[in-house]
Formats: sequence, structure tokens, C-alpha cells
Amino acid sequence: MSTSTAPWWRDAVIYQVYVRSFADGNGDGVGDIAGIRSRLPYLKSLGVDAIWINPWYESPMADHGYDVADFRQIDPLFGTVAEAEQLIEEAHRHGIRVIPDIVPNHTSDRHAWFQTALAAGPGSPERERYVFRTGRGTDGAEPPNDWVSCFGGPAWTRLPDGEWYLHLFAPEQPDLNWRHPDVRAEFESILRFWFSRGVDGFRIDVAHGLIKHPELPDLPPRPEAAPDGPRQHLDHPHWDRDEVHDVYRAWRRVADEFPGDRSFVAEAWADTPERLAAYVRRDGLHTAFNFDFLMSSWDAKDLRAVIDDSLAMLGAVGAPATWVLSNHDVMRHPSRYGRRVVRRWVANEPYRPEGAVDLALGTRRARAAALLMLALPGGAYIYQGEELGLPEVEDLPESVLQDPVWERSGHTDRGRDGCRVPIPWSGRSAPYGFSPDGTTAEPWLPQPADWAEHSVAAHDGVEGSMLELYRAALRLRRGLPALGDGGLAWLDTPAGVLAFRREPEFVCVVNLSAEPYRLPGHASVLLASGPLDDGVLAPDRAAWLAT
Ligand code: NOJ
Repeated sequence: MSTSTAPWWRDAVIYQVYVRSFADGNGDGVGDIAGIRSRLPYLKSLGVDAIWINPWYESPMADHGYDVADFRQIDPLFGTVAEAEQLIEEAHRHGIRVIPDIVPNHTSDRHAWFQTALAAGPGSPERERYVFRTGRGTDGAEPPNDWVSCFGGPAWTRLPDGEWYLHLFAPEQPDLNWRHPDVRAEFESILRFWFSRGVDGFRIDVAHGLIKHPELPDLPPRPEAAPDGPRQHLDHPHWDRDEVHDVYRAWRRVADEFPGDRSFVAEAWADTPERLAAYVRRDGLHTAFNFDFLMSSWDAKDLRAVIDDSLAMLGAVGAPATWVLSNHDVMRHPSRYGRRVVRRWVANEPYRPEGAVDLALGTRRARAAALLMLALPGGAYIYQGEELGLPEVEDLPESVLQDPVWERSGHTDRGRDGCRVPIPWSGRSAPYGFSPDGTTAEPWLPQPADWAEHSVAAHDGVEGSMLELYRAALRLRRGLPALGDGGLAWLDTPAGVLAFRREPEFVCVVNLSAEPYRLPGHASVLLASGPLDDGVLAPDRAAWLAT
């Protein structure tokens, strides 16, 4: 971390806790707040600055908590508000900040507002808090427009009274109408509810989706797919519309009412870095996930372009960059990088790579990517289990799949369960310490039979393990004034090699080429992602140098 007095969020390393899969404290096979509390010493020893916790609110769990029935209650599966308060307090005592998820685009269909709207009937003011419309065609039997749900199928569901309601995700997740003053006031009140309980910020779900075109027009024609061509912003009727920034200007004012640098991170899938930067202007949100980095191919030119564009566009509005390799929605990166061809992918499109996976290759690259990510200027996100090198579980039996994507896609897309398998902590067999000893309930998703080698216990204290690589990198990052917030300067390197200097006296080198690369002159090697052969960096390896 830099030694300046810049706010913490400019270069924080934030660990993502997918609560149902992190640690099960009460033995029901599902992770919970008690589990997180018991693992705070682990997070402390890893060296992260904050945790982002996926939704923990009361929910029927149609989308594992992203369908919120009551934003001021914790779901009993995870604990209570009192336990959440204890967790916040204990995390703070460990020097770890806490950032819950907030889900403003939609509620659960069990939310009191939606239930009231259903009961109140067509044309009622209660329905104006959501997006209800009459259909098209004979008797309004066709949906009001051609929008599609991100989980597959139409984005509209018809009610027995004839009206349709909009859901950009599952039918159990009706979209709110952000042009309605009640909606704006309610969310500001929810933010205050949790800020006053001590949370340090929020991750904003689908931050780019809140404002819909007032006329709800059909989708524009799709441009020719050109994944490797220049990216363009498309005027879209429900993604990334300019008016959404008014909402966040108001949220910023709410955050600023509280002491201690509270901050927001936006989940905003933007077409271009300029569009992403608009979310983090000085009077708006603080940071946004930089998915361009995650979506990049494993290619030096592509990565360098993403890094340069991100730093330039975010720097122009005074915001720090963030870097992220994995999360609970995407294939874990050792499995992505273990494909022969790692192509760049397009925002708001599912990524399902083809071909056999070479996990040894993917893991080598993941180790190098970790050193790259943690050396770049700005903040970084670590998705639980990435510090253990967990791969995607690509062979979950169909009978256990739970992600709504599986059903909604008509069983054509297996969805995101493969990156959500519960964390292995210790032991030789499932549940690998995920649940307390003696628990009979099975983990909510089955863990592979060969995951003992990935457990925390198997990595702990083992030189060269993925966990020890992350710990060493985070320790260095805390101590080295060159790392964290700031700038970088590229060094001249052959094609396929990335090398940049950060002042004072630090160089990061990543070899993405097929040839070994002799490291530039240095005083010492601070850390390397694999063995160095007499100052030579093998392909798919990275090193941090003191100069
Ligand atoms: C993005 C979240 O990350 C994802 O898990 C969820 O399904 C959708 N938003 C809908 O809330």
C-alpha cells in the first residue's frame, strides 16, 4: 500500500466472500456469517484489506440471494442482523473492512412491494414501482418488447390479470422502476441503514442496468460480432444509459454523510473504458470493476492495451483502476487460461470456452496473472479460492446444478455453479472442513473427490504453494512504496513479454511468449511465480524485481 494519506479504497485488495460457499458455521451444508467470523484470522493472515460479501439479505434464493425480499434483514440461512454487526465489528478489529452487496436493479417477487403491486392490480400506483405493461398482439398475448433475460428466455412474464412485468434476470427478480421517487428514497434509506451499522461500502449489483429507455423500444440490431475489433459503445435501451449517473451522484452524497471513507464499487459492464470511467467521476461512485482485464485473452498485446486504456480513462477522471481475474459469475481463471486459445470475450455475453483444459498450464498462467494484477496501479479483487488455485468444476452432475441459468437456457448453458463449489479447508475428503466436524449435511454443491490437494491446510506453510504466493505478494505489496496507487512506465521488451517499472525501484516482468526471457538488470528478485533458471523467466511466468 502506498504510504500516502490517500483513501483506503484507491489501492485496497478486496477478497470476495461468496457467503454460501465460504465456510459453514452451523453444519447445514451452506456457508454463513458464523463461518466467515471463524475464518477472519485466515483472511488476516492472507493480508487482504477488505471483504466484499455477496448478498446476505432475506431471500427465497431463486438466484442465491440476488433476489432480495427484505434488504434490512439477513436471511436465516446466513444468520441475523446482530451477527452481521458482530462480523463487521470483529473484521474491523482484524483491520479488515466489510463491503456488502446491494441489489438495486430488482427485488425478489416475494418483496412486500411486489406482492402489494400484484394484489393492487393493473393501472394501480403500486405497480409503478416496477415495470408493468400491457402486451402486444392480439389480446396483448405477446410481450411488450423483444428484450431477453440475461438468464435466457424473454425478459417479460405475464400475470393472470393480463399484464406483463419486466425481469432482466429470472422471473423471480422483477425490475424496479428507477424513475419512481419511492425507489430512489428507499435505496438511500437502505444504504443509511447499513452504513450506520458500520459497513465500509457497497458493491453495486448490475449498476449499469437501473435506467431503462422511457419508451422501452425493441433491441437495436446486433452489430457484426468482432471480438478482436475496436470496441464501440452502442446506445442500448437498458444497459449503461446516461441517466443512471444521477442515481449514483445521490448515493455518493449519502456515503459522504458518514465518517471514514465509505466507498462504492460498481458492477458495470460497459462497452468501452470511457463509458466505465463515467461511473467513477469525482461526484459519482468511487471505483468500478474493470472487467476488461478479466475478459482479456492471455496475450501481451491485448493485456497491455487493456491496462493502458484502463489507466488512461480512469486516470482522466481521477479514479483508481481495479483489477479482477475471477468472480462468482465467470469460469475460474486457471480453467480459462488452461485453454489453448484464450479469446477475448464481449460484455454481457456468456463465456463458455471450448476445448480440453490443461490445468497445469492454466495454473502457471494464473500464478503469473496474480503477480501482474497485484503489481498494477490501483486496487485488486481476489475471488475466494483463487488463492488456492481452485479450478472451475466443469463436471458437476446435471442433477445438482442450481443456477437458474441452467433451467432458463433450456439446459444449453450449465451456468455458474462450477465456480461456486464450497471451499476446501482441510482433510482428505468432502466436506474438507467446509462444515464443522461431525456434520451430516452435505455441502450444497458437491466438492470433487480430488480437492484435498487444494485445501487451505495443504497449501499452508508450503513453499511455492499458490496460497503462499498470494501471501508473499500481499505482504510485499503492503511494504513496498512502489505498489498500490500510482503510475507505471513500460520497459522495452520483445513481443509477448510485458515489463513495467514502478517508482521507486520496482519492476514487474511477465513472460506471455513461448520463449524463455532473460530478466533485465536488477538488484534482487523479490518474488517469482515459479523457479527462475539463472535469471531466465520461463514462458507463462512472472517476477517482481527490486532495481
Ligand atoms: C450480477 C451478479 O453478480 C449475479 O450473480 C446475479 O445473478 C445478477 N447480477 C443478477 O442480480
